[in-house]
Amino acid sequence: MIDTQIEQALNDQIAMEARSSHFYLGMATWAETSGLNGTAAFLYRHSHEEREHMLKLIRFVNERGGTAHIPSLDAPAAEFSGLHAVFTTLLEHETNVTASINEVVDLCLSRKDYTTHNFMQWYVSEQIEEEALARTILDKLAMIGSDSAGLYLFDRDLEQLEPEA
Ligand code: FEO
Repeated sequence: MIDTQIEQALNDQIAMEARSSHFYLGMATWAETSGLNGTAAFLYRHSHEEREHMLKLIRFVNERGGTAHIPSLDAPAAEFSGLHAVFTTLLEHETNVTASINEVVDLCLSRKDYTTHNFMQWYVSEQIEEEALARTILDKLAMIGSDSAGLYLFDRDLEQLEPEA
């Protein structure tokens, strides 16, 4: 049976992954209606992957004898001043997700729950990749500046880029 504190922490993480999926859906819609179809495709995939992160946690909690709670969600931001704002927000959010995952890992160690600790390692690795990718994208945007040909190519490249590359 899962420890109640661990169960609570995992339920908090479920809510965080659900919010991530929702945030990126809002960003994807903004991109699609701004003519940035490649960026929209990337963000739709990202949103879908966050939903999978949530599902993986839900199933783990239930399989371990706990009860996963499905959170209610506020509407995500629908307006952004540009691509830089989108990816800065995304990186800030992922940094918060990483901090939250690290707290779950800490709790697993203090409660001696090595099964959940092992399960959480996948999320630890995932966060390293997600943060690195967001930083790479921001570096590219900084190089491009306001060059419209560069932004066209950036958007086209994002169509192919996997959120978990
Ligand atoms: Fe599932 Fe991007 O955190």
